[in-house]
Amino acid sequence: MVSACKMHNSMGTSYPHKTHHVVLSSSTTGNDVGHHTADTEKEPTPVNNSNPSTLNNNNLMDGFDSVVNKRYACTRFQRYQEPTHNTENGTEESAATNANAVPQAAISDQSVVKSAYKCLELSQRAPTGFNAQPYRVILVHSKEDKERLSQYCLGRNADRVRDSDCTAVFLADRECGRDGKRYTNFLVDNMDPPPRQNEHGTSDDTRPLFNSMTRSASTTIAKANTSRTRRPLSSKALLKLRMLIMLFSSGYPLPRFLNVPFSWGVRTAVSILSFFARCLQSMKQRFRILSKLFPSDIQMLPTLSSAETWAQKNTMLAAMIYMLACTSRGLATCPMEGIDAAGVRKVLVIPRRYSIPLIVSTGTPYRRSVNEISETDDVGMSHGDDGNFSPRYSLQEVVFGNNFGVTCDLT
Ligand SMILES: Cc1cc2nc3c(=O)[nH]c(=O)nc-3n(C[C@H](O)[C@H](O)[C@H](O)COP(=O)(O)O)c2cc1C
Repeated sequence: MVSACKMHNSMGTSYPHKTHHVVLSSSTTGNDVGHHTADTEKEPTPVNNSNPSTLNNNNLMDGFDSVVNKRYACTRFQRYQEPTHNTENGTEESAATNANAVPQAAISDQSVVKSAYKCLELSQRAPTGFNAQPYRVILVHSKEDKERLSQYCLGRNADRVRDSDCTAVFLADRECGRDGKRYTNFLVDNMDPPPRQNEHGTSDDTRPLFNSMTRSASTTIAKANTSRTRRPLSSKALLKLRMLIMLFSSGYPLPRFLNVPFSWGVRTAVSILSFFARCLQSMKQRFRILSKLFPSDIQMLPTLSSAETWAQKNTMLAAMIYMLACTSRGLATCPMEGIDAAGVRKVLVIPRRYSIPLIVSTGTPYRRSVNEISETDDVGMSHGDDGNFSPRYSLQEVVFGNNFGVTCDLT
């Protein structure tokens, strides 16, 4: 079960409430990740919400643990089909048989590409700040585009793009303030339908938003029935949300050369105010006279991220879900940051508003013959090809209890 509870941010605004139930059957995870093909995939079985007995938590947990433990960064992919070219005497020759041929992208397995697409759909369930979903993804799967993308991938990353069936290029939206209207429409489209009209043909609802809506009620109802619904928001609340997104995302709809200094100015001003708010708060606790002078609670202010950071932290959560979804379908993935972003931007025609935090090559792992040594990465580390997964720091070094540096031993 994946559910996003109703949350409140530090400014007291409600986030959308959603509940979505799926069960990840342990049979879909496979014990043999990397040797499954997309043809054998099974989609997760939706859980019937009305019957709680169908929700088997142990299955969910086992399935999820298994998927997480089987994901690894695949260092070499199996090429699905070699491209051919015509030789001088008119016969077709596979590029793989020609030792002098420059490396070429393989022809992709369309069933893998379709599975990857399904995984991208699942990755949309990733949480994002204010549900703003400030990212886009390009799924590069044609031989020609894999070839062009690989030109701007560094070292062996280029081979991964060429050999794998597809590469998901994750784009973080640094100017999501430009999407204010789109976001408002999205919320309106997913709101509960407005109340029925009374006998005078006018709406009983006095909220300005619904009275000013140009969409017909029937369209709204049709959409509401097919998607998640939410409590209607007034136009004032919608505007407040847009402003908050702008503030948190630092993605002001300004030209880039203005956006960076402007957002820096706003963040600096907010952190100065925040400093004074903290000082006042602690002085109020020490000196009673101040509590009398400032009886109301002091509003703490959020620490704002740069547009780049905010966009990337949201995008990376979607990328992670994508990789886990791929693992659950027996597909291998390799997340990569070793790219020339400007070159990738050029060949994939990506607008400047988006940065490229990560690309994820996706496909079937290389099937090595018995005599071949196992695959390692550029620094010689094994990543799961031979069943050896990469190590991690000890839990105690990473997870603390209650305060930084305090050992958390809950075993
Ligand atoms: C942000 C990020 C960037 C990465 N960039 C590359 C890369 O450019 N090339 C590569 O081969 N692996 C890359 N990796 C994969 C890591 O090397 C790998 O995840 C790490 O060594 C842990 O291994 P594991 O994923 O197999 O557990 C990247 C991973 C992340 C999260």
